[in-house]
Amino acid sequence: MKPIQEVRTVTPSERPVVSLSAIDTERFGFRVARTSHLTLDTLPDINSFCEKEAVGLLIARCSVAQLELLQSLLRAGFELMDTLVYYVHDLARIPQRLTREDVHVRSIVPGEENQVKALAADIFRGYQGHYQADKKLNPFKCEQIYQSWAYRACMFRDVADEVLVADVDGRLQGFITLKMNSSTEAEGGLFGVSTPVRGSGIAPALMCRALDWCRAKDLEKMVISTQIHNIASQKVWVRVGFEPSHAFYTLHKWYDPNPGVPSPS
Ligand SMILES: CC(C)(COP(=O)(O)OP(=O)(O)OC[C@H]1O[C@@H](n2cnc3c(N)ncnc32)[C@H](O)[C@@H]1OP(=O)(O)O)[C@@H](O)C(=O)NCCC(=O)NCCS
Repeated sequence: MKPIQEVRTVTPSERPVVSLSAIDTERFGFRVARTSHLTLDTLPDINSFCEKEAVGLLIARCSVAQLELLQSLLRAGFELMDTLVYYVHDLARIPQRLTREDVHVRSIVPGEENQVKALAADIFRGYQGHYQADKKLNPFKCEQIYQSWAYRACMFRDVADEVLVADVDGRLQGFITLKMNSSTEAEGGLFGVSTPVRGSGIAPALMCRALDWCRAKDLEKMVISTQIHNIASQKVWVRVGFEPSHAFYTLHKWYDPNPGVPSPS
């Protein structure tokens, strides 16, 4: 495999259009690139980047606003893996709708990282994200993604600025990770509640505390996203004042059908 280096191609405004994903490359053992700026205009540059950099898989996001774009991408060999819906809470405009004093939600403390990792393993078992939807990816490695993300969120500031946990009688039963996107906006990352205690008010309590965290930082907005079919999450968000904002398709394109396997010489 070629060594990973910081390689990206940029737009005229110097925003990276496509770059190698070090974490996905390490996870799957072949070169994976990502783009969140997929359009018909950026496609030629993205294709040449992936070919030049020997990328096996490209994970791409594009707006759902143009159906024709999706149709063209499907014809060009991209496969649709999921649809992500984004919700936004306008903190100044929308008052706190709900408080749940009965559920104890707090910041994690050092030493709880492995408990959060184990909780994520339980919560996201069988979860259907874009990785799991791609049958060419190793399902065992896909299953581990959420545990690894949860653990890294507890450990590293570049992954999350805060991890809130629901502590029920000394047992962690749910969590949400939060990351500052800018000085005015935070994003909810991973969010979930342990399977046996779903439906008991822990999810709205976590969201309320996440909103409190944003308000304490004087932020204007909190955003969060999930798969379009994740009705439980969306119901929780709407009930605490989030509103639908926008959506993206996630597409995968395989440039190498057998990445990581040396070609016969
Ligand atoms: C999303 C999640 C945190 C919600 O927590 P919860 O405890 O299930 O939340 P609630 O019990 O308040 O349920 C919310 C609503 O969704 C409904 N619901 C739950 N599962 C559902 C499903 N599969 N399909 C449709 N509705 C569902 C509930 O009935 C409830 O509606 P109601 O109050 O009208 O009956 C939890 O389901 C979870 O951890 N899921 C797996 C991880 C996940 O999807 N995380 C979000 C993306 S990162």
